[in-house]
Amino acid sequence: MLSSLVLLLILTAHSYGETPAMKLILTKKALQYGSQLGTQWMQQKVQSVSIPQVQGSVSLGLLGNVDYVLSEMTVTRCILPEPSVQFDEGTGGLQTAVTGLSIWVSGRWNTHYGLIHDGGSFDLSLSNIGMSSAVKLGNDHMGHLTISIAFCSARISDITINVQGGGSLLFKPFVDRNKGQIKSQIEGKICPEIRRLVEDLTQHLTAMDVSVSVSHNLIMELPLTSAPSVQSSNLHLDFKGEFYNAQHHTEPTFQAEPFTLTPHGDYMLHLGLSEFSVNSASYAYFSAGLLQVQINDSMIPPSSPFHLNTSFFGSFIPQLPKMFPNMLMELHVVAREVPMFRFISDEVDLGLLASVKAFAIHPNKTLVPLFKLNINSSFTCKVFFSQGKMRGSAMMNTFTLALASSEVGIFQTTILENVMKIGMKTMFLPKLNAKLSEGTVLPSFHQLHLDNPVVKVEVGFVAISSDVTV
Ligand SMILES: *[C@@H]1O[C@H](CO)[C@@H](O)[C@H](O)[C@H]1NC(C)=O
Ligand SMILES: *[C@@H]1O[C@H](CO)[C@@H](O)[C@H](O)[C@H]1NC(C)=O
Ligand SMILES: *[C@@H]1O[C@H](CO)[C@@H](O)[C@H](O)[C@H]1NC(C)=O
Ligand SMILES: *[C@@H]1O[C@H](CO)[C@@H](O)[C@H](O)[C@H]1NC(C)=O
Repeated sequence: MLSSLVLLLILTAHSYGETPAMKLILTKKALQYGSQLGTQWMQQKVQSVSIPQVQGSVSLGLLGNVDYVLSEMTVTRCILPEPSVQFDEGTGGLQTAVTGLSIWVSGRWNTHYGLIHDGGSFDLSLSNIGMSSAVKLGNDHMGHLTISIAFCSARISDITINVQGGGSLLFKPFVDRNKGQIKSQIEGKICPEIRRLVEDLTQHLTAMDVSVSVSHNLIMELPLTSAPSVQSSNLHLDFKGEFYNAQHHTEPTFQAEPFTLTPHGDYMLHLGLSEFSVNSASYAYFSAGLLQVQINDSMIPPSSPFHLNTSFFGSFIPQLPKMFPNMLMELHVVAREVPMFRFISDEVDLGLLASVKAFAIHPNKTLVPLFKLNINSSFTCKVFFSQGKMRGSAMMNTFTLALASSEVGIFQTTILENVMKIGMKTMFLPKLNAKLSEGTVLPSFHQLHLDNPVVKVEVGFVAISSDVTV
């Protein structure tokens, strides 16, 4: 039973041990920023933190025990120095330490001595608290980030307690005598409380979806493919980074290639997105039949020297205007294969194999098939980043055309090829560029915005270095 469970875990874990198509490196600068934000957040939150009640018992020797309860405690003031946060290679996570933390709390006290009950209010201050902890980062078999406490210690230097109400004149000396015990009671609560917070956080992370909806048609799967790797000055996270069509979850025929992302410059993060990641998006669009466009004459500017009509095409296909006089035409352009992107230094090459089916539009609106052309083309695209989206601008490198089939007889394609090349450059490319400049959103991690990112296309991947703001 246990062995099959272990086997199952290994097998499922293995399916997430695939080659990452997206890598994220967080640097010390990110850690500092995170720690600043965390401190601000804590400063705001700490006032509303519910403090678990403290109870204990003090022996009065032969007279028995006094039981006491400190409850309804709220933080009235807090001095929260910024903690030092560091990558901890040894633990495989982060180390945090804070000193000089002071906190003021008011609450209720109750004592219980035999049948005698007493109670009132108190003000308590804990000063110069020192805390240090180490968390270990990991991943579960679904690819979620996990966080666990590897080490925690807390020490309170000083405590003052002022009590009011009830028989506080009696209780006060009792408190003064037993301050030490109350202090260690509170000290003992700090680490379990931190542990509980971290467990809550892990539960929250575990419940998170590892896929992100990028657009109506596209989702990106972002499980971790391995445990985070912690080094002395940065943290490496490897993600699956594969796009899928939102309706049909099918795997492409090609696979992710490993790549190495090296941090350069003083940035909070470095993000690497492999060729495979982009090609998986291309595959998702292709397999859903979304890579097709219909071109008709109304899309061509009236001033253009060429038009989609049978008299114009008569220049290359003399028999056409005789068979279909004075008719408008329509072109259906469809990708024949998945358009594949190749990342080279500073540019992206794209091979596009398309077929173009030409129709005459009969006066009764029926589309009459004329011929089909196969087009092999290649493009070079400069990739850039603006307004939070990855965008591009493309130019055409090669364009060849072959007649695949014809309902109007054989014809020479050389002049048509030249004319279509011009048409591609003046019609198709501007359209493609419009799509590319529309761009695709980089998966944002919740409310993190990239701040002046630097995008660099490397061999096999694109690297984005950036600071972030929340
Ligand atoms: C041309 O195509 C556009 C967009 O597909 C369409 O709105 C328009 O009606 C078409 N025009 C003709 C004349 O078929
Ligand atoms: C066909 O296109 C040519 C220009 O290429 C234009 O002069 C002619 O008016 C067009 N004919 C029709 C029927 O639209
Ligand atoms: C339109 O005309 C074509 C050619 O004459 C014919 O084959 C087709 O059936 C017609 N379609 C309609 C809807 O009338
Ligand atoms: C176009 O590409 C296909 C598939 O790669 C190839 O078989 C064909 O020979 C190419 N045609 C031209 C004209 O380059």
